[in-house]
Amino acid sequence: MRIAHAEFIVSNTDVEKCPQQALPEYAFIGRSNVGKSSLINSLCQRKSLAKTSGRPGKTQLINHFKINREWFLVDLPGYGYARTSKSTKKAFQKLITHYFKARKQLVSAFVLIDVRHPPQNIDQDFMEWLSLHEIPFAIVFTKADKLKPLALKKSVEHYLHTMKETSWEEVPPHFITSSLKKTGNEELLTYIAQLNLSLKGL
Ligand code: GTP
Ligand code: MG
Repeated sequence: MRIAHAEFIVSNTDVEKCPQQALPEYAFIGRSNVGKSSLINSLCQRKSLAKTSGRPGKTQLINHFKINREWFLVDLPGYGYARTSKSTKKAFQKLITHYFKARKQLVSAFVLIDVRHPPQNIDQDFMEWLSLHEIPFAIVFTKADKLKPLALKKSVEHYLHTMKETSWEEVPPHFITSSLKKTGNEELLTYIAQLNLSLKGL
């Protein structure tokens, strides 16, 4: 699938004010600075559709983008940004969990993980929370351009292996991406296109 049309619709702090249309929705979530907004821009082949920053904590709202007039990509605030107040962290956490519980049109979450890092509790906890609430998700490893091919392969293998060794019977689908080099874009968009198609068949 190619994204021919991408349009910013609305930013919200209030989940109830998110678009009411029953279109399939896919949300990007993960730690601050992992590259959620950059990946949305890369997929849409736009430089600044979603706002990005070298400093964590850039995205603070729920941002809906309508894609090909048929489905939504959602850019969410990051979790786990250390240099923010406890109350702000809590407010973000509440916003994020409320979003995932409330959005019935959500088809899948994409949990973004910086491919350079070993598994971190905060991500594992969040994936467990998704699983507990029966919210489907896939893992998207980001910033693949920052590692050489062998190190990249090892890092992904180590991550998935650790998941299998711990609480995960089945590892979720995963993608290896670089927004800079556009690695993995096609696989990710094909995956979404297949899910969209399967919904139409219902
Ligand atoms: P918050 O909105 O703060 O939660 O962050 P985010 O997850 O949306 O991250 P964002 O897309 O703003 O990117 C954070 C930083 O990582 C920016 O400096 C990006 O340029 C950089 N970045 C994102 N993706 C990639 C990538 O694939 N490769 C490289 N080299 N840098 C990336
Ligand atoms: Mg962002």
